[in-house]
Amino acid sequence: MLATGSWLDAIGYAQGTRGPARALLQQPRLRGDFDRRVLGAFLEHLGRAIYTGLYQPGSPLADTNGFRADVVREIKELGVPIIRYPGGNFVSGYNWLDGVGPKQQRPTVLERAWNSIETNQFGTNEFIDWCRMVGTEPLLGMNFGTGTAEMAVAYVEYCNLERGTKWSDLRRSHGYDSPHNVRYWCLGNEMDGPWQIGQLQAREYGRKARDAARQMRVVDPNLQLIACGSSGTNMPQYLIWDREVLEECYDQVDGISLHAYYGNTQALTRNSAARYLAMNLDMDRQILEIAAVCDYVQGLRRSSKRLWLSFDEWNVWYRARSGDAVNGRRQFAPKLLEEVYNLEDALLVGGFVNTLLRNAARVRIGCIAQLVNAIAPLVTNDTGVLRQSTFFPYAWALRYARGRVLDLRVESETYPITATGLQADFARNDQVPFVDVVATLDSPGGQACVLMLNRDLEGERELALEWRDITPTRVLACETLTGADLKAFNTFEQPRRVAPQRLDPPVAGTRMTFKLPPRSYTIAQLATMS
Ligand code: AHR
Repeated sequence: MLATGSWLDAIGYAQGTRGPARALLQQPRLRGDFDRRVLGAFLEHLGRAIYTGLYQPGSPLADTNGFRADVVREIKELGVPIIRYPGGNFVSGYNWLDGVGPKQQRPTVLERAWNSIETNQFGTNEFIDWCRMVGTEPLLGMNFGTGTAEMAVAYVEYCNLERGTKWSDLRRSHGYDSPHNVRYWCLGNEMDGPWQIGQLQAREYGRKARDAARQMRVVDPNLQLIACGSSGTNMPQYLIWDREVLEECYDQVDGISLHAYYGNTQALTRNSAARYLAMNLDMDRQILEIAAVCDYVQGLRRSSKRLWLSFDEWNVWYRARSGDAVNGRRQFAPKLLEEVYNLEDALLVGGFVNTLLRNAARVRIGCIAQLVNAIAPLVTNDTGVLRQSTFFPYAWALRYARGRVLDLRVESETYPITATGLQADFARNDQVPFVDVVATLDSPGGQACVLMLNRDLEGERELALEWRDITPTRVLACETLTGADLKAFNTFEQPRRVAPQRLDPPVAGTRMTFKLPPRSYTIAQLATMS
């Protein structure tokens, strides 16, 4: 089936024939540049993410602070704009006080979200130091599970107040004279989840968030506060939770969180790669639905404030989800959630990147979950760090997507899929375009970037781009991620089984036709004149 539209008719594209997908690229959709925080990441005290991932004192790969220099190098090079920390489920049982002050006095505790041993040798101040080192901004999470509003507010005071109060002076006594000035904060994590330590009802949570947020703003009026939204579209109270929470705390918060994990399971996709690669459309819909709830409550409250969205956990995650993969069995730095990503996972991650960018007018923050070792594009061992397949689409977006998101009108042939009635029920639309494309324009820098997913498993697809008001003058880079085996993955022994390949680009100009390999994600960086 072919999606139809007036632009198609205008350029005389014959309906019903097999032909190239087409995209008309015109004036940017966003008035200002998109917020690069939409390409952020997440790091939790979970498994080997922090310990032996970021922090491994004594390792020949670590610096004098115990930070893994190879990991620092990778993340610095990626240019991750913001990193959410320390959880996740972990945060709902975390006492931030255990992780500050002299290291030899910090307690070792039994961490109850993942049943692991937490030594607290890496805590808030180490994280802030590490963030400065890799050039990223911290997004701190607060404990709304076992934690009180009082301790959450104290955490803000510890981090952000200059001096002269109990908690700011405590920070200074720990060797940090200047405040950390953390601007973005999550008011808890997935508080609707029965798995969450201290799970709350929506209105209870909303009232706690409102009370804590009001006090926090007394401590620091510049905060940007994120309320916990539904932890997934499959939650029984999905959207109802969000509405009730916001009815309680709309005036005190700035954004609301969205989370989603996707998997190629029998139940969701019947192991069909064609269905799997369409799952980013589910993310598009979740964004629209949560935005609609925000706007509804805005209307109810006659508020002039429009909330933004924080998609602060998203990824593929379906293999390491049970048994020993999620139970630390009272070990220190156990191997948890160590998902091995293959080519088809990477293609879908490319789709998620496209979805986040095209919704950047509403989604201010996005965090790939997670960054190192646990469901992560980067994996460490004692000898170094490995880039999994999913590293590449994420790295491309960070490197090339700049400026404003272009307003695209895309026409593509579609393929049918049938609904499963489960999470990721993207198939309500039941027709999926073969080609998914998004583009950005950095006018002052004179560059554009086009990110293209070809969901066609069998055949090459052409994508004809037609530019209005913008003239590409040169192709600066054109790379693709593809391969014969969708199940191929990288290992320390074979680190480049799934890796970018150069793709022959079309000649730059106002009409350009890319030949997208079957099962591929492609990036083109263009020099432009406008
Ligand atoms: O990222 C892994 C876990 O997934 C997080 O701890 C939690 O917030 C989510 O359920």
